[in-house]
This record gives sequence, structure tokens and C-alpha cells, in this order.
Amino acid sequence: MQQPPRPTLFDFHGVSMTKHFTDNWDNIQKFKARPDDILIATYPKAGTTWVSYILDLLYFGQTCPERQASVPLHERVPFLEISTPSQPKGKDLADQLPTTPRLIKTHLPVQFIPKSFWEQNSRIVYVARNAKDNAVSYFHFGCMNSIQPETGDWSTFLNDFMEAKMVFGSWYDHVTGWWEKKQTYPKLHYMLYEDLIEDSGREIDRLCSFLGLSPSAEEKERVTTGSNFDNMKQNKMTNFSTVKVMNHAVSPFMRKGKVGDWKNHFTVAQNEAFDEDYRRKMKNPTLQFRTEL
Ligand code: A3P
Repeated sequence: MQQPPRPTLFDFHGVSMTKHFTDNWDNIQKFKARPDDILIATYPKAGTTWVSYILDLLYFGQTCPERQASVPLHERVPFLEISTPSQPKGKDLADQLPTTPRLIKTHLPVQFIPKSFWEQNSRIVYVARNAKDNAVSYFHFGCMNSIQPETGDWSTFLNDFMEAKMVFGSWYDHVTGWWEKKQTYPKLHYMLYEDLIEDSGREIDRLCSFLGLSPSAEEKERVTTGSNFDNMKQNKMTNFSTVKVMNHAVSPFMRKGKVGDWKNHFTVAQNEAFDEDYRRKMKNPTLQFRTEL
């Protein structure tokens, strides 16, 4: 199928964006959050889908089995700022969500979040992933997704990543901005992809404690198993196989799901330059990532 031309980046209040995430801006900013909404916030490719599905299973896995079988996850957990010609606007889907709580996804940096989320004191789950694996995952996603800008080759993409020429801007500012917000906004739970890979059961326990949920051992097992990589990859409702703008023959959405895949992509020289630049940009010593387990 013929795909429309790839969008281009432009500066949007100091952050690189494309029209697909800014076209509906005024409406997004007017979004009316509710106190029981749960916002899942991430830099793209940090494990958004994984945590969205964990939350969906925790809240609705038992009560709405038919929903699990027939409604794709990206409709159950709308992407607030998305606005493309081929699909309903994320903000409208979020407005129409029939569930309580409403689970809503965003990739916005913290300074762009509609103010009603803060006013309503809604819960926010932020997921961050180490920069190297995040960049690799974003590269493959850029290749397979026609609403992303042209990626160029890996070396060009990596430079662009370091220079914040990515949709949703700088990884460094994103993860740090949200980390700093956590210091003043108690209803923010900051998770790391690497921790989830290391021990998803422990991380689901922590998440439940933040949410005030106490699932039975059996329920928890169902959530942990249902949301593991292999099961989500097989599941048509979670693997994005129904989304037309993605070409899974180029790279599947559920690609590897590992910590340390960057070692298969970075040259020694790229790694050294990246580390040096990273030290200059990441000044907050309390925010630490693991690039291998
Ligand atoms: P890779 O490209 O490294 O495989 P997002 O949902 O934010 O777009 O992130 C997608 C990344 O999370 C992809 O990483 C994907 O494979 C990984 N992922 C999704 N579900 C996962 C799961 N259940 N376990 C581990 N990784 C998962």
C-alpha cells in the first residue's frame, strides 16, 4: 500500500515534534483529567505498551474478558496527543473512554502535560529506559512506522538522538524532567524498564502498592504471565499488527524486548562518544540507568 510522505521535525516550544502530535494542541491542552485517571507517560520506546498492558490487566483483566479478546490495546489506552488523518484523535478516544479508571498514554515531556492532570492530582506512571537501548529501539521503530520522520542510517540516527532531533525531543531532558517532577508530585511512580526485565513480579508489586491495589497471588500470576514478551508478541490485541502505518516485515513492534541489545548496534567509537556526551548531559547523580543486567 502507498504510504503518505514521512513527516518532518520542527521546533515546538523548544522540543522537536511533528504535526501528528501538535495538530490538535489546543484541544489536548484543554483535556479534562479526572482524579481517578491514570496517565502512562514515557519517552517513546521505553516500555509504554508493556506497562499499559500490565495496568489494563490489573484493572480490567478479570472484569472484561471480551474486551481483552476484541479491542486492541491502543484503543483501550488511547494516545492522548496523536492526531493523524488515518485514525481517530487520541484526545477524543480518551474523552470517550467508558472505563474507570481511564488509562491514558502520553509521550509528552513533563512541561507539556495538560494542567488538569496536576489540578486533579491524577496518578501518573512514568517508565524510563536506558538511553542506549532506547535509541536502538527507536531506530527500528522509525524504520517500520510511516508516521515517524525518515530515520537515515543508524549512525545518522544516533547523532540525531544525541542532538535531540527526535519526535518528543531530547531523551536526556525527558527522563530528567519527569524525575525532577517526582520530587514534588507524590502521585508519580517512576519505573525503569531494566527493573521490569529483571523482576517483573517485584515491579508489579510496587506498582500495585502505588495504585492501592492488592491482587491475589493467582491474579498477579495472570498479569505477569499475560504481559510477558512472548505472550504479548503472539497477542494480536497487543502486538500492533492491526495498525496500518506499521510495517512489521521491516521490524516487528515486539522486536527483542531485552536489556543490552545496544551492543549489537554501537561501534566502539560510537559508544565512547555517546558515553562522553552522556556524562556532560546527565548531571543529576540520583538518576541512574543500567545498560546491562
Ligand atoms: P525493543 O525494540 O528493544 O524490542 P514502547 O511500547 O514504549 O513503544 O516500547 C517498545 C519496546 O518495548 C520494544 O523494545 C518492545 O519489544 C519492548 N516491549 C514491549 N513489551 C514488552 C514486554 N512484555 N517485555 C519486554 N519488552 C517489551
